Amino acid sequence: MPQTRIRNAALRSKVMSADDAAALIAPGTTVGMSGFTAAGYPKLVPPALASRIEAAHDAGDPFTIKVWTGASTGPELDGALAKAKGIDFRLPYNSDPTAREQINRGEMEYFDLHLSEVAPMAWQGFLGPLDTALIEVTAIHEDGTLVPSTSVGNNQTWLDLADQVIVEVNSWQNERLEGMHDIYANPALPPRRVPIPLVRTDERIGQPTFHCDPAKVVAVVESERPDRNHAFKAPDDCSRTIAGHILEFLAHEVKLGRLPPSLLPLQSGVGNIANAVLGGLIHCPFDNLTAFTEVLQDGMLDLIDSGKLLTVSTTALTLGADYMDRFSRDIETYRDRIILRPQEITNHPELIRRLGCIAMNGMIEADIYGNVNSTHIMGSRIQNGIGGSGDFARNAYISIFMSPSVAKGGAISTIVPQVSHVDHIDQDVQVLVTEHGLADLRGHSPKQRARLVIEKCAHPDYRPMLEDYFERAQKGAFGNHSPSLLGEALSWHQRFIETGSMKV
Ligand code: COA
Repeated sequence: MPQTRIRNAALRSKVMSADDAAALIAPGTTVGMSGFTAAGYPKLVPPALASRIEAAHDAGDPFTIKVWTGASTGPELDGALAKAKGIDFRLPYNSDPTAREQINRGEMEYFDLHLSEVAPMAWQGFLGPLDTALIEVTAIHEDGTLVPSTSVGNNQTWLDLADQVIVEVNSWQNERLEGMHDIYANPALPPRRVPIPLVRTDERIGQPTFHCDPAKVVAVVESERPDRNHAFKAPDDCSRTIAGHILEFLAHEVKLGRLPPSLLPLQSGVGNIANAVLGGLIHCPFDNLTAFTEVLQDGMLDLIDSGKLLTVSTTALTLGADYMDRFSRDIETYRDRIILRPQEITNHPELIRRLGCIAMNGMIEADIYGNVNSTHIMGSRIQNGIGGSGDFARNAYISIFMSPSVAKGGAISTIVPQVSHVDHIDQDVQVLVTEHGLADLRGHSPKQRARLVIEKCAHPDYRPMLEDYFERAQKGAFGNHSPSLLGEALSWHQRFIETGSMKV
């Protein structure tokens, strides 16, 4: 690797192997790592630490650490450390299957929180001390400032709060990423907090680099490993149909004058359906689109290339390998279109409300009144976490949740009498969409919402069961505002747990 990536002499003297750097992380301590999706996470020190933990385990002296990140990461971080049984506490978001299993078996504690709140909570002292920051960067300047890589997440906060810092300088990352970041982090805590001076998605309000006290840096590790984001599946009929409903809805809103022809800044959640919606926008009559979102995924790059999407504000480049190659090759054409910011800014409620975002997120299930569960399977098994969905849902101009109407080959209805866990209360959910249709819930009472959700969103196999439940609930519930048969409302989930199907 060319030495030119580490241009600060003092920090160059701290270059060491990943094993030596991992040895500097003390058992039982807390490590704040970079990474938001499988972008910009450290790729060498976590596996080296995992090997050290495995060796300690074999020697009968096992230890664990606590891991904080931006969001999910790649297999070399969550995957390797979880396989080594090396994490006893994790925040704020996880999609690694091994870690998920350990959380669901009760072997790993998991604090799932709104992504905008991670850095403020760390500063407020609610999370306890941070011992080590382990951050991937693209390069180190002569003055010791750090050039971020493909995600920003909470990195500046970790660098500021940690007692010691380990830096991975990854020469796989394109050096020309420099200048695409806008680091405005750690606004003052209340009562000294001031408005964040951002009124357009394409404004810059911070610095292009991270600052870090060089005296805190205990190790610099050279790496040349790629990010590991998965390619998206080509949209299937179901995602295309859901996307079609959303695009038709947006066109209708424009026609009624409730949205401008360039829409409002788009936020798009992770996943194939969200990607299909972005794909569909290419063929729509909307132009001059903008995005204020936390992940820039493949579909957004296509939208930029099509000329439809002017600018994207994001905290991570969540691009499959082919798309990352394209981004890297043509990086100069994207330079003025993409701004990478800390996640406390990309997901800040103040900014989402000010800009008036159109939020589009996936869900596990919704109930007939519009409450949404984004995180828990059958009320008790965590899938991933709330991520940024809550930041956006509550504060968006229009908050849309989408899912196929059934899961597990039809054994589960994603529209149920009552969600088994609530992430987004009915007041925060304005539009629900499945392949069967779209329910616009704005301005409707709970009973009006229930009728709409059953009619527009439920799968035909489950519609009669839901209608029957709703009729009986109106007659037998304690109150008739949001009629609910408490003893029966969750029996659908219990039936699935006991018989493998929600059908009677
Ligand atoms: N009951 C039980 N299981 C269900 C279910 C339901 N109602 N709905 C989905 N599932 C299962 C699927 O069968 C699948 O299981 P598998 O992994 O065993 O195959 C799993 O849950 C994931 O479902 P899938 O349809 O592949 O999900 P997705 O990729 O569309 O993601 C969420 C849906 C809700 C998990 C995802 O959007 C998420 O994590 N959301 C929370 C975070 C968020 O919204 N972030 C947005 C800001 S970026």
